[in-house]
Amino acid sequence: MIIICGTPGTGKTILAKGLARYGFKVIHLSELVIREKLYLKYDEKRNSYIIDPEKLLKKLVDLQRTSDKPIIVEGVGAEIIPKEFVDVCIVLICEPKELQRRLEAKGYPPEKIEENLEAERLNIIWGEALDNYGQEKVVVFDTTNISEEKLISDAIKELKKRGLLKGDH
Ligand SMILES: Nc1ncnc2c1ncn2[C@@H]1O[C@H](COP(=O)(O)OP(=O)(O)O)[C@@H](O)[C@H]1O
Ligand SMILES: [Mg+2]
Repeated sequence: MIIICGTPGTGKTILAKGLARYGFKVIHLSELVIREKLYLKYDEKRNSYIIDPEKLLKKLVDLQRTSDKPIIVEGVGAEIIPKEFVDVCIVLICEPKELQRRLEAKGYPPEKIEENLEAERLNIIWGEALDNYGQEKVVVFDTTNISEEKLISDAIKELKKRGLLKGDH
């Protein structure tokens, strides 16, 4: 499977939607977790579900089995899916100034924005991806100054290069 990781606002959902046009089955993690109840409990303080990693992995493996192309999972952290299930981990990054602008436009509260900017400054997700998947399975795209279409076409090129998408597109 192909996973797309990155701090909120870096462009994961946009990229995943773009890749869906090429026939990939795209899974938006948060929707799947809620719909299939793949959580341990609800965290009141953080306002989010705590994922049950075993249930999630079982579900993703099931979904992969019925798909002829690798499935794409977006919005997942770089720590939850074990390396042997991952063909490539796409990490999206963005300069903090631009990320701030995007998160403000999304209406994030100031403390959430600061938390995410700090994570991005420290390259936390990128670091986790390298830790868990190794350099050969990690591809990084900086979305700060490129268009959404360019991001999608760069990702398609990379997936073709890795044999994860065949034919002319
Ligand atoms: N090259 C780019 N790729 C993706 N998003 C971009 C790009 N340039 C600007 N954006 C903007 O950044 C935001 C990314 O939002 P989204 O895809 O929801 O991020 P995420 O799912 O990572 O939280 C959108 O408002 C989008 O218009
Ligand atoms: Mg998103």
